[in-house]
Amino acid sequence: MYRARPEDGVAFVTGASSGIGRATALELVRRGYRVAVTARREEELEQLAASAPEQIFAFPADVTNGSAMGGTVFTIEEQLGPIALAFLNAGVFLPAERVGFDAALIAQTYAVNVGGTVNCIAPLLAAMMTRGRGQIAINASLAGYNGLPGNLAYGASKAALIHMAEALKLTYESKGLTFQILCHGFVRTAMTDQETDFAMPWRIEPEAAATIICHGFEKGGFEIAFPWPLVAASKFVRLLPYPLRFRLIAAALRKAERDRTPEAAVNPSFPPVDGPTQS
Ligand SMILES: NC(=O)c1ccc[n+]([C@@H]2O[C@H](COP(=O)([O-])OP(=O)(O)OC[C@H]3O[C@@H](n4cnc5c(N)ncnc54)[C@H](OP(=O)(O)O)[C@@H]3O)[C@@H](O)[C@H]2O)c1
Repeated sequence: MYRARPEDGVAFVTGASSGIGRATALELVRRGYRVAVTARREEELEQLAASAPEQIFAFPADVTNGSAMGGTVFTIEEQLGPIALAFLNAGVFLPAERVGFDAALIAQTYAVNVGGTVNCIAPLLAAMMTRGRGQIAINASLAGYNGLPGNLAYGASKAALIHMAEALKLTYESKGLTFQILCHGFVRTAMTDQETDFAMPWRIEPEAAATIICHGFEKGGFEIAFPWPLVAASKFVRLLPYPLRFRLIAAALRKAERDRTPEAAVNPSFPPVDGPTQS
């Protein structure tokens, strides 16, 4: 399995204007990489690049624009050299999905989380295949393991990424390309800060996440998953037959809601949105 090294080329991080992407770009610099960063917010990217002018280079773009991402990958390679390691991290969670089924919101979430990732993979594959080596890590989420109420668009988009990464690994590993999937729990970022009344066990800081993530890039292995208690619980639940799985998830969600708001203890209709009531 190929594992990128700084002497092989540059690293490319999407969704680097804040949160996990930003922290990972900085951690990659500490590990010796020159890093090309992208996201839509130009000012944030420029500030990040200014913090390490010889090592971080800003290429603002919207991942939902396929031709723009093709151009971005081409320009990075032209200006900085081959991309050895790509961290496809750009993603959104739109809190309105907690309210109910919304087709436009689902399409929007898919456009960024799945479409945006695909738009990056296409030009990266073309470039890396000509060299016969390259490492691509995709940021999914533990949310991709199990369908949960209020998490339909986000969870399904992340499940799609897990599935896609599995197929990509099996297709391209023999050709020298390494694919990895990140399935991690809560990290303190703008994405989780927008959810004030939601319990987030084992939430860690982006810098701590970035250290684990970069260690995972170096170590290799298909999946980079943390923290282990949430990973173990998510994978265990996933193995259960549907009736048992749904009962367990519903009970866990009821307990979480009781802990959060005592009045929910007497509300038999929780969970309110598309609750897992059928097997
Ligand atoms: N935080 C968590 O607990 C957690 C847990 C599991 C997985 N994740 C995943 O981690 C990744 C990073 O999230 P985060 O927590 O660090 O949140 P964040 O701080 O909100 O970062 C999201 C990043 O994605 C970029 N982005 C969003 N839409 C984009 C678009 N259309 N084109 C280009 N870039 C776009 C944002 O940049 P611009 O707005 O500047 O474009 C931003 O840099 C996401 O894929 C998320 O699903 C997060």
